[in-house]
Amino acid sequence: MPEKTILEARHLDKYFYDPVKFHVLKDINLRVEEGEFVSIVGSSGSGKSTLLYTLSSLDTDYEGEVIIDQTALRSLSNDDLARLRNRSIGFIFQSHYLLADFTAIENILLPGLKLGKRSKPDLLRAALEKMDLLGIRDQADKAVNTLSGGQQQRVAIARALINDPKIIFCDEPTGNLDSGNARIVFDLLKDLAHNYKQTILMVTHDESYQTDRQIRLHDGRVVD
Ligand SMILES: Nc1ncnc2c1ncn2[C@@H]1O[C@H](COP(=O)(O)OP(=O)(O)O)[C@@H](O)[C@H]1O
Ligand SMILES: [Mg+2]
Repeated sequence: MPEKTILEARHLDKYFYDPVKFHVLKDINLRVEEGEFVSIVGSSGSGKSTLLYTLSSLDTDYEGEVIIDQTALRSLSNDDLARLRNRSIGFIFQSHYLLADFTAIENILLPGLKLGKRSKPDLLRAALEKMDLLGIRDQADKAVNTLSGGQQQRVAIARALINDPKIIFCDEPTGNLDSGNARIVFDLLKDLAHNYKQTILMVTHDESYQTDRQIRLHDGRVVD
């Protein structure tokens, strides 16, 4: 199958201005193909999170171009950007940001209900399917705050998947987990990329994880 570029950055530069002007991302050029599992690595402070937020449309203050699925983000109105985010992008963070008092399945359904493209029964079916895939179906009706850290992170992955996003952005998704749970979550992400053609871009400082490709940042620049 021919490769299809799903994400591209062209001459991406970014500055922070507070407390002083600081050039945080320096002429970043990269491409990610559909179905690739790519990690962004580099030492603390090298700009990994900033790059992820910029590529994922959460941070819109940059120079250069970010292109997702043939669309230059800069060309979109705020409404269209929000729509692209809901429809095409999944997010997984180190802290899962689940609603603690809601059940696992309620959390997973939320982005689907927000997008409003599918009926509730369809969404329920999809949510259960994702939970099956992630091995947490039996946790569906439990309040999130009664689940283990590893289970919570899998709920967050299912939530990121509910709208069948083209690309999932993860910032240290295993950072808060013990090594056993971290391995489970990493293996699930890898399975999503390799067996379900899901594109994944993951920031990690743990270089023992084997992804298809590493993008290394040093001092705001892509190296090697
Ligand atoms: N909102 C901000 N304002 C000013 N400086 C920031 C801000 N966020 C991050 N930085 C700085 O930018 C650099 C890169 O940060 P970050 O992208 O979080 O690095 P990493 O994720 O690789 O640890 C660091 O020097 C950090 O202190
Ligand atoms: Mg970071």
